[in-house]
Amino acid sequence: MVYSVALQFFVVVPGLLQAVLGHPLVSRAPECDRSVLSEAADAYIAAQTAGDVGLLEGVVADGWGYVENNKDTDAQDGVLGKALTIDHRRTNFDLVECATYTEIIVTDPANPYVIGTQIHHDADGRVALIDTVASTTNSWLFDAKKTLEYVLKEDWDPIPEGERDSRELLKATGDAYLDMWSNETAADAVPWGTPCVRLEGSAYTGTGSPNDSCKAGIPSNHNQAPNINRRYVIDESMGSVHIICLWQHMMDAADSHEFRLEGGKLRYVHTMTECGGQRCTL
Ligand SMILES: *[C@@H]1O[C@H](CO)[C@@H](O)[C@H](O)[C@H]1NC(C)=O
Ligand SMILES: *[C@@H]1O[C@H](CO)[C@@H](O)[C@H](O)[C@H]1NC(C)=O
Repeated sequence: MVYSVALQFFVVVPGLLQAVLGHPLVSRAPECDRSVLSEAADAYIAAQTAGDVGLLEGVVADGWGYVENNKDTDAQDGVLGKALTIDHRRTNFDLVECATYTEIIVTDPANPYVIGTQIHHDADGRVALIDTVASTTNSWLFDAKKTLEYVLKEDWDPIPEGERDSRELLKATGDAYLDMWSNETAADAVPWGTPCVRLEGSAYTGTGSPNDSCKAGIPSNHNQAPNINRRYVIDESMGSVHIICLWQHMMDAADSHEFRLEGGKLRYVHTMTECGGQRCTL
């Protein structure tokens, strides 16, 4: 479990391996302290609001890493160094892997962003890595105002204990979905729900009908490059798996996909895709 984080990042950002391995990850406690994760996620929000990475000082490990849109980045030079007025924020907790996922929407027309951020902690509970996809103007189907409108209509209440899906099902669903571009039979492995809606950038597939389907326009060409270098945050209480990956078949984009399941079935999909500062085009 612990090694998987380090190894995945070895593929994505070789320079980061040293920073991650510099921490005693192998002795990570078997259970993570939710309040420690929560405090770090709140510090991250405070830093993003102020555009001041210094506000993370109390929660980060020495030599912590910052990856923005799949690139090893100096945090203060990245979006984290920009003061943003945050309109929406939701944080999920992975209490097995000691990580959080935070979805952020900023509608300010001068500085619009939709951001998906994974925060990975080390064995001491300190932040070893902030891994973020920051979509903005020119990103795939980008319109922060519309995204906010749709997100606020959805119900992301925690799922009652006893009705939660397993980590294995959540992860397998996310993987099967991301495999659809390169694997002809992967779509059969996705537990499609009804209703189900996709929010891709600002494009919404739902109409509010109980018949809403997520299958509309799913890939019909399965010979595309695979979506690789996947990093996961899984929160059973939210029915959610969040995955950041390299979206090879569209401009080697940085991609964020979050899936919510309810009762074993896919209910919501949220995506953000950033194309290295270029306008995303297929
Ligand atoms: C394609 O997807 C199916 C269903 O998830 C899976 O069983 C199979 O192993 C996948 N094939 C490859 C080559 O990954
Ligand atoms: C949902 O589908 C059923 C069966 O096809 C149909 O009878 C019903 O009118 C549909 N409801 C809506 C709101 O579209």
